[in-house]
Amino acid sequence: MHSIIGLLCLLALGVSAAPTDKDYFADLPKCSTEEDQLGECVKELFNTLTPRLKDGNPELRIEPYEPLRFNRTSFQYTSGTVNGRITVRNAKIYGFAANRAKEVSAKLNGDKVKFRFVTQMPKLNIVGSYKADLQVNQLQLKPKGEFNLTLYDVETKTITDGEIYEKDGHRYFRLTNLDANPKPRDMEIKANGIFEDPELDKVAMNVANQYWRDIYGILLPETRKFWQPLMLRMFNEAFELVPIDQFLKE
Ligand SMILES: *[C@@H]1O[C@H](CO)[C@@H](O)[C@H](O)[C@H]1NC(C)=O
Ligand SMILES: *[C@@H]1O[C@H](CO)[C@@H](O)[C@H](O)[C@H]1NC(C)=O
Repeated sequence: MHSIIGLLCLLALGVSAAPTDKDYFADLPKCSTEEDQLGECVKELFNTLTPRLKDGNPELRIEPYEPLRFNRTSFQYTSGTVNGRITVRNAKIYGFAANRAKEVSAKLNGDKVKFRFVTQMPKLNIVGSYKADLQVNQLQLKPKGEFNLTLYDVETKTITDGEIYEKDGHRYFRLTNLDANPKPRDMEIKANGIFEDPELDKVAMNVANQYWRDIYGILLPETRKFWQPLMLRMFNEAFELVPIDQFLKE
């Protein structure tokens, strides 16, 4: 008796843990694996699934990503007169749900798939708290406070390497590499706590916003080693849960 109940439980678990939710994906296009058609089809999948998955899916065990949260990261900041470390805590990132693919092209070689994406996001907003230890000329600064960084009209060119593999009779996709280059049209920086005097903070923010391109040029490569592996992991965690058979024409 026990073993039968055990077996039923296993079956029930097996069923509820099965990662195919037919209705959830039923309206999606099926892609041909012809190179010239695959890109266009993946673009449609991307543009349908990005907004749909923003609040996650408990059944598929996909975490919500709007906002995307992270607890802590720190990076080096070095420019002409400023040198030091910045630590960012309890950050929330808003905007990925509105990310749309404009162009997608694919290259297939056996099980290997290379994609090139151009995506466009109207607004990417990062809020959180920061703490820094900076040397500015001869001055030692230890500011801490809140920040709010907004990037407008972000065009991102992303190249990915990936592969199709088989598991339990289904085909899955995973990324092995990702290289993303986001370019905003404009950036707005807000932060407090740089100086004790809020008026000086205002002056500092005016200067920072005037030179946002330089600041962005330093932040992007310094923070890449944090967010690029994070993106890769997030995509792969989602890909692992959903076999791609249902998206491929036979
Ligand atoms: C982030 O912090 C929250 C609350 O303190 C905690 O529950 C969560 O596990 C942390 N996440 C990571 C990835 O460390
Ligand atoms: C951050 O700044 C943006 C742009 O000014 C604004 O839309 C947003 O509401 C701000 N968020 C917070 C939490 O202050």
